[in-house]
Amino acid sequence: MLTILVINSKGGSGKTTLATNLAAYYASKKILTAIMDYDPQGSSIQWLRVRPDDAQKIHGANAAPAKGAVPLRSTHAWVPLETEITIIDAPAGTKGLLLQELVRKADFIVIPVAPSAIDIHATADFIKELFLFGGARTSRAKIAVVANRVRNSSSPVYATLERFLNSLKLPFLSRISDSENYLHGVEKGLGVFEMDPAATVAERQELMPMLTWLNGQLPNRFAARLDDKVQDLEGSRKFAAFRTGTQNVTSLITTGKFRNYP
Ligand SMILES: Nc1ncnc2c1ncn2[C@@H]1O[C@H](COP(=O)(O)OP(=O)(O)O)[C@@H](O)[C@H]1O
Ligand SMILES: [Mg+2]
Repeated sequence: MLTILVINSKGGSGKTTLATNLAAYYASKKILTAIMDYDPQGSSIQWLRVRPDDAQKIHGANAAPAKGAVPLRSTHAWVPLETEITIIDAPAGTKGLLLQELVRKADFIVIPVAPSAIDIHATADFIKELFLFGGARTSRAKIAVVANRVRNSSSPVYATLERFLNSLKLPFLSRISDSENYLHGVEKGLGVFEMDPAATVAERQELMPMLTWLNGQLPNRFAARLDDKVQDLEGSRKFAAFRTGTQNVTSLITTGKFRNYP
């Protein structure tokens, strides 16, 4: 199983938007996909709840610490064994042990950043934390940054961040626009790759650099399904058998069994 961690300590940077769109994209390619939502706000789990029945299934694991628990270490969320790609939606303010734990799990780390000077400054601080204390320096994870809610792609506010990322040799991939289609997706439980292609041309295009970066590093077994031209029957069959639903980790921890597991 491969894990994509979507993280930035800054709230509202687009973590959930990106996590749900990534999950919807891979599920639509018949890849067995799960979301682990570490955010107590549970926005990704909420998105899964409104997801239409006829959309490709995505497994949801609520990995947020139980209310009242000391948030020192996260609980251990479980996803079905056959899961191929897990997307982790991280909470705002992640640091310390939780940050280290999430970094350890990750094969890829995608950091969305909103365009304000405050967001960019906070993100630069977060990336420092990620390397100095989060374990990113020694982890296997490949790291990239995407700009989110971009209104003017030539905006000079990114220049400082770009220089900083260059100095760390981190790629600055997609520039995701501020678009109502992402808001519609949240409401409907869909990703832009599952919405009317004619109405989402720009969104599909702008996400491509990030997807190309990710897909280019995935093992060969994914290639056929990521190539739109090839029908992968084996993948489709496995998908039909994929156990899905959402699971409450707290009950799993207390019972040691998949009590809420479908
Ligand atoms: N590219 C975008 N275009 C339009 N709205 C967006 C975009 N990205 C995020 N939003 C909206 O901004 C708010 C914060 O985004 P969200 O993904 O929830 O951030 P985070 O998970 O980092 O807190 C949400 O209401 C979301 O729908
Ligand atoms: Mg969120």
